[in-house]
Amino acid sequence: MSNDVIQFLQQRRSVVTKKMLPEAPTDSDLEQIISCGLRVPDHANVQPWKLVVIQGDARKQFDEEVILKAALASSNEPLSEAVVQLESQRMQRSGTVIAVLCSFVLPHKIPVWEQQLSAGAVCSHLLIAAQSLDYAAQWITEWPAYDPLVITALGGDPASDRIAGFIHIGKKQDQPDERKRPVREEKVSYWHGIA
Ligand SMILES: Cc1cc2nc3c(=O)[nH]c(=O)nc-3n(C[C@H](O)[C@H](O)[C@H](O)COP(=O)(O)O)c2cc1C
Repeated sequence: MSNDVIQFLQQRRSVVTKKMLPEAPTDSDLEQIISCGLRVPDHANVQPWKLVVIQGDARKQFDEEVILKAALASSNEPLSEAVVQLESQRMQRSGTVIAVLCSFVLPHKIPVWEQQLSAGAVCSHLLIAAQSLDYAAQWITEWPAYDPLVITALGGDPASDRIAGFIHIGKKQDQPDERKRPVREEKVSYWHGIA
């Protein structure tokens, strides 16, 4: 039986940031993407995540005042011109970035691992929703996801919060080529009882 969702999931692909145009989704599409991102499996309804949207002029400000400063702070030597160029453009590679912050609820009967998995589900849903609307989208971490200044700038506490990902959304230029996919037999087995 054919099913649009299955067909889409079997063909969907991420578009790397260097291949997307930095054009933001429409407001109504972004609202839909975010609402899909918030509607994820979440054991005991802990909601251990926060989304921060960076778009428009805020991308440049975030690059220059957060990313570049964090890069400078973590380097023992002056940054080369090429590195300054790279770091001062990081968020501007796409039109909209949704930072997904995992703010663990602790102590809680739901283990941290499960709270992390739910934050990952938020990222997946955002990505899939954006791709289903034919945007170019990629889930990225890179070094800023692990940087305390970046986590703080996003409203998190570097001592306890983690960045699950930055979902970059832009405009497609070309259809992406397929990438290497897992060999099914190496990843899937059926349990037939204890031998
Ligand atoms: C948690 C996580 C972090 C990732 N971080 C990066 C990254 O920093 N840089 C990168 O090039 N790809 C990163 N990726 C991989 C891409 O987003 C993506 O998985 C890959 O390009 C293929 O995706 P597709 O199956 O959607 O086509 C990350 C993926 C995950 C799940």
